[in-house]
Amino acid sequence: MRVGTHDDSWWSRAAVYQVYPRSFRDGNGDGLGDLQGVIDGLGHLESLSIDAVWLSPFYPSPQNDSGYDVSDPRAVDPMFGTLDDFARLVDQAHERGLRVIVDIVPNHVSASHSWFVEALSSPAGSPARRRFHFVDGKGEAGELPPNNWESIFGGPAWTRVKEPDGSWGQWYLHLFDHTQPDLNWVNDEVRIDALNTLAFWLDLRVDGFRVDVALGLAKDMTYPDLIDPIGMSQSLRFDLDPGSAEAVERRAALANSAIFDRDEIHDIYRQWRSLLESYGNDKMAVVEAWVAPERASRYVAPDTLHQIFGFDFLVVAWDAKSIRDAIQHGIDAVSAVGAPPTWALSNHDSPRVVTRLGDGPEGLARARALALIAHALPGSVYVYQGEELGLCDVEVPDSARQDPVWFRSAGREKGRDGGRVPLPWSGSQPPYGFTDRADVSLWLPQPEHWESWTVEAEGDDPDSMLNLYRSSLALRRSHSSLASEEIEFWSVDDDELVVFRRGADVVVVANTSDQWLPSPVAGSILVASGPVVAGDAGVEIGPNTTVWLQM
Ligand code: BGC
Repeated sequence: MRVGTHDDSWWSRAAVYQVYPRSFRDGNGDGLGDLQGVIDGLGHLESLSIDAVWLSPFYPSPQNDSGYDVSDPRAVDPMFGTLDDFARLVDQAHERGLRVIVDIVPNHVSASHSWFVEALSSPAGSPARRRFHFVDGKGEAGELPPNNWESIFGGPAWTRVKEPDGSWGQWYLHLFDHTQPDLNWVNDEVRIDALNTLAFWLDLRVDGFRVDVALGLAKDMTYPDLIDPIGMSQSLRFDLDPGSAEAVERRAALANSAIFDRDEIHDIYRQWRSLLESYGNDKMAVVEAWVAPERASRYVAPDTLHQIFGFDFLVVAWDAKSIRDAIQHGIDAVSAVGAPPTWALSNHDSPRVVTRLGDGPEGLARARALALIAHALPGSVYVYQGEELGLCDVEVPDSARQDPVWFRSAGREKGRDGGRVPLPWSGSQPPYGFTDRADVSLWLPQPEHWESWTVEAEGDDPDSMLNLYRSSLALRRSHSSLASEEIEFWSVDDDELVVFRRGADVVVVANTSDQWLPSPVAGSILVASGPVVAGDAGVEIGPNTTVWLQM
C-alpha cells in the first residue's frame, strides 16, 4: 500500500523531538530547564538527525499543570527566559536546519489569565464571563453543578465561584484542573485572540504548532448530562489497548459528543489553516485528538490542519498482531485525505515506553525493537526527550509529586511525573549535568542510578539506546527506500513476527517472542535493535528484536 501525503512538505517525513522545557536542560544555573538550555542542547538533537523540535509550553504560567495552564500565550515565562532568548533559539535551530514547533493551548487558560480574573469580578451574563462557560447551577439555590461532566484529571468538571459581593454564584467549566477554565469558542473574541497568538509566534518565525486538546474546543452549550461521563473523560487517558472493544466503543462515543470532537470544530481549524497559509506553504500544525479512526481525517483534510498524532504505539500490546493492527490503523486513519501518518512511542502524558513494556532488560529490549519499527514507517515520528536514552519512569516520592492528576484523584492515580524528571546529560550523580548548580533540588528528583544513562555515557557505548537512535534516525533520513511512501506487509507463518517491506529494497523484521526465530527474508543487516546473526543459513533474530535488512 502507499501512504498518501499532500505533497513533499518537510513535516510529512520529519523526525520531531519533543522538549519539555522544565526538564530538558538548565542554561542559566538556577536549577530549572529553560530556553538557553534548549539552545545548548541543539547539538544533541542534530546528532540524532532530528528535523524539528517541538517545545511544550514555556509561556507565563503558575505551573499548576506544568505550563499547560497559560496566563499569557504571547510571552515567555521569566523562569524560561525572555522573548529574545526565544528569537535566538529559533535562529540557532534554523541555522542547524532544525524547524521549531510551539505548543498552543486553545481549550483553556490559567485561572490567573487576565480574562479569567476579569470574569470573576464581573456579573453573570457579562461579556467577560461569556469568554468562558459560566453557567447557573441546578438545585433551588444553584448549589448543584450544571451537569454531571467529569474533569479528565478526576473530580467534577465544574467549580462554583463566589460573586464579587461574597455570595455563592455561578459555576464555570474546566475539563482539566479547576485552575484551567475552558474558553467559550462561540465567542469571536476568543477566536480572534487565538489567531493573534498564532500570528505572534509566526512573526517570530516558528514553523508550526502542536495543538493541545484539539478535539475539545467546541461544546454542546445546552450542557446536557453525559451517559458515561467518567468513561468519556478516561478515554483521553491513553490507558486502553487501542484495538480492545472497550477502546473502540469509547472512541466511538466521543464522536460529535457534547464535549469532544464536535463537527463545528473544523470551522476553527479552517480559519487557522488560512492564517498559516498566509505565511507560506511550509507552516504546519499537528493536533492532539484521540478520536475514532473514521473521525481522525477531519482534522487533517486539505482545508483543515496537517497532522494528527497517532497514539496507538503509546498503548500497543507487545505482540505481533497488535503491532500490525496499530500500523494499519495509523495509516488508514489519515490516508483517505492524503495526510501523512505519525508515530509516537511516548510523550509527557504517558508512561515511558521502557516501563510500559516491562521495565528491566526485557522492557528495554522491547522499547528498542518498537523504536526500530516506528523509525522504519512512512510518515513522521515524534521522539519524547529521554526516550532516546531508554529512560524508565522514575519512582517519584509522593511528597515530591506535582501532577494535578495526583492531587485531584486524591492519590489514587500517581499521575505523569515519573516520565518528566530532568534529563541526565553527564557525570555520575544528580544533577547529572542537567544544571551547573550542585546545591539545587530539582523540581522532580532524579534517581541515584542514572550514571550509565546520561547522554555522555551512552554516547561512548556503541550498544546504547542513544547510538541505536542515532543510527536508525540517520538511516531513515538517508536511505531512499525508507523515505518512500510505500509499505507492504508480508504474511508469514510465524505469529510472532512483524514483517514489512519499505520502498524497493528494505525489509523490516520484528521478533516479538522470547525465543530466537529465523527471519523469513535474507539480506544484509542495516541496523538491529538486539542480537542478530547472519550466516549462510540465513538471518536469525534474537528475542524482542527488530532488524532492518537490505535485500
Ligand atoms: C496535555 C497535557 C495537559 C492537558 C491539559 C494535554 O493534552 O498534553 O499535558 O495536562 O492537555 O492542557
